[in-house]
Amino acid sequence: MAGESWPSKKVERMAQEMSWKDFSAMEDREKVPFLNNPNGNPFHVLFAQQFNRENLDLLCQVAEKARLINKDRKKGREFLKSLLFGTYALNFFAQPSTRTFLSFQTAQEVLGMGIRDIRDPSTSSEAKGETLEDSIRTFSSYVDLVVMRHPHEGSAELGAWVLNKSDRRIPIINGGSGKDQHPTQALLDIYTLYKSFDGQIDGRTIVMVGDLARGRTVRSLSYLMKNYQGVELFFVSPPHLRMRDDIKDFLDRHDIFCQEEDDLEEVIPLADAIYMTRVQDEWDEKHIKGKGVPVRLKFRQPIGPKYRFKKEYLEWMKKDAVLMHPLPKRDEIEEEVGYSSDSRVVFWRQERNGMWIRVALIAVIFGKEKEILDYQMSSP
Ligand code: NCD
Repeated sequence: MAGESWPSKKVERMAQEMSWKDFSAMEDREKVPFLNNPNGNPFHVLFAQQFNRENLDLLCQVAEKARLINKDRKKGREFLKSLLFGTYALNFFAQPSTRTFLSFQTAQEVLGMGIRDIRDPSTSSEAKGETLEDSIRTFSSYVDLVVMRHPHEGSAELGAWVLNKSDRRIPIINGGSGKDQHPTQALLDIYTLYKSFDGQIDGRTIVMVGDLARGRTVRSLSYLMKNYQGVELFFVSPPHLRMRDDIKDFLDRHDIFCQEEDDLEEVIPLADAIYMTRVQDEWDEKHIKGKGVPVRLKFRQPIGPKYRFKKEYLEWMKKDAVLMHPLPKRDEIEEEVGYSSDSRVVFWRQERNGMWIRVALIAVIFGKEKEILDYQMSSP
């Protein structure tokens, strides 16, 4: 049902013979033929590096058009629902989620898909000792698309590997994998920048703030920056939560300017976008001495005043800059800012954009982009 299948017979044969060890050991760019459709659009969505400028521009255009079509409550909505009528999606979320889960579910409904979900792995056969591979292979017996959020890095990749071997090869979308990647969040962040700057992301200065070490959204968004010319990145974080070297090396290799900055106040006036993040303290573990059993710390770590966006900073921001956050937020943004009427505070719009970019992504995976772009709106 989805996409146009394999780029070539050779890739198909290789995928079917390849062990997990060999697949996972490949460089990300070597994996791309095993993830994309022959036309270069995504089939499986695992990581941000698999997207090129053409994919990103297409997704933003399809999201814009779908949003417009949906305004026509009768004909427009019926048309969107007809696109994937009779197909099914499974949302398998083994980690907490509000926005990603709801926006995927709603996007699937906009496109007319039937929806299934598993949100508590203790209710699935994983609890009886089934491997994740077998569970994912089983999902493909019933549905046409899997969206998966999982605490383990590489879990969506494992899913793609097993589905590539299956005679029901269905697409899998990574809805967040451990501390590593959250590619669809990065897509919605790009769509938000695209809308905020009339499609002009090239040459912008983006300041990322907070837990950059474990924030998978900032990692995925940094990877996507390779697709834009002249972007400059500033990373502002407490010393123990700095952006990891793999991302900094990637940016270096792609000639993208990035600089660590200690003082948020210094860079606010330079920014076109300020991207705040919370402390990801669910990843903090302490080990009970002697037993080696990891125990989650129960307290919430505050970010510290130096990394908090204060209300007065709105006055220091450029007139056309935007304040973003993947949400959920905590103390890293002063509460009043969240409900201010300042149109540069865009995070609520950003979460809504998430639904439309996911409509676009699913439509593109299933090869429906042309139908959406060619749809003739009836005059009011
Ligand atoms: C993010 C996530 O889960 O990685 N949330 C989201 O998907 N909107 C960010 C976060 O939890 O801090």
